[in-house]
Amino acid sequence: MTKVTVVGAGNVGATCADVLAYREIAEEIVLVDIKEGVAEGKALDIWQKAPINVYDSRTIGSTNDYSKTAGSDVVVITSGLPRKPGMTRDDLIETNAGIVKTVTENVIKHSPDTIIVVVSNPLDVMTYQAHVTSKFPKTKVMGMAGILDTARYRAFIAEELNISPKEIQAILMGGHGDTMVPLPRYTTVAGIPVTELISKEKLDAIIERTKFGGGELVKLMGTSAWYAPGSAAAQMVESIVKNQKRVFPVCIKLDGEYGIDDCYLGVPVILGKNGIEKVIELDLNKEEKALLEVSRTHVKEVMSVLDGLSNK
Ligand code: NAI
Ligand code: 2OP
Repeated sequence: MTKVTVVGAGNVGATCADVLAYREIAEEIVLVDIKEGVAEGKALDIWQKAPINVYDSRTIGSTNDYSKTAGSDVVVITSGLPRKPGMTRDDLIETNAGIVKTVTENVIKHSPDTIIVVVSNPLDVMTYQAHVTSKFPKTKVMGMAGILDTARYRAFIAEELNISPKEIQAILMGGHGDTMVPLPRYTTVAGIPVTELISKEKLDAIIERTKFGGGELVKLMGTSAWYAPGSAAAQMVESIVKNQKRVFPVCIKLDGEYGIDDCYLGVPVILGKNGIEKVIELDLNKEEKALLEVSRTHVKEVMSVLDGLSNK
């Protein structure tokens, strides 16, 4: 039986559990939250939708009882505060580090062989926290951001060209924040280089909008996004539990890949039943390397803030 746990039954976690259920990505989905009754209520609501949307996946809720999560193949961690207008993702570090640490400890007690997908922000550094706490191999602890950021980029390109978003293939690297590195050189529209279809000026504007795509939504809603983030996390779970070996940008610890050591950054990987099956190393040009270096420097700074916290 495929079993997936989603910790945090808030906006992103509940959306992720819903996608996992209606797309029958896992047979059993356990939703956990610290707020009494919330996970149970949302799990029951998703289960009661099964006859309408026609799926068999079972959703089960739990208020902080991790025994129900035992034997999970994948655990998605979405617990933690979201951004409010005016906040950066990095402002969340202290509170969310404590939450991610406690949650990881609870998760690994009951699922020592699981694969962890972190969603909580600041994403790259929360992935670091989960990795340090779990002491799992780096192939089994990863962060979701690249699929979301790439999806925003792809959606904006589709809108600009008035074309199906399904036709847009793209990859994006670096940290989950304003220093992310979209790669127009590796962006195609049904195989056609995007640079042949969109002017540099327009593409630069799309890249800028992508970099601040999360902030655009926070400004509109007073909190951060959840439909695309929840779906993106579910897509990672699907590639793992179905051993699809899809290629996605995923945040992992780099130990020499791209010439970067001891830093958590988004890079293209193959995702399969063992977690990160392989890191794909692109031959970046000088300009792309320089952008990745800016991203690395920023993530390293936030990593050192985490290192300075007593609750790491
Ligand atoms: P939310 O506030 O709707 O939900 C968070 C949930 O976590 C709440 O239900 C809360 O009770 C729960 N929680 C807090 N402490 C907990 C603990 N110790 N154990 C279990 N549950 C606990 O927030 P939302 O919108 O779902 O966002 C969740 C996190 O995901 C935030 O940190 C947000 O910044 C991040 N995020 C990351 C994205 C990414 O691309 N990586 C995209 C969108 C959000
Ligand atoms: C986003 O990009 C806030 O990280 C979240 O929507």
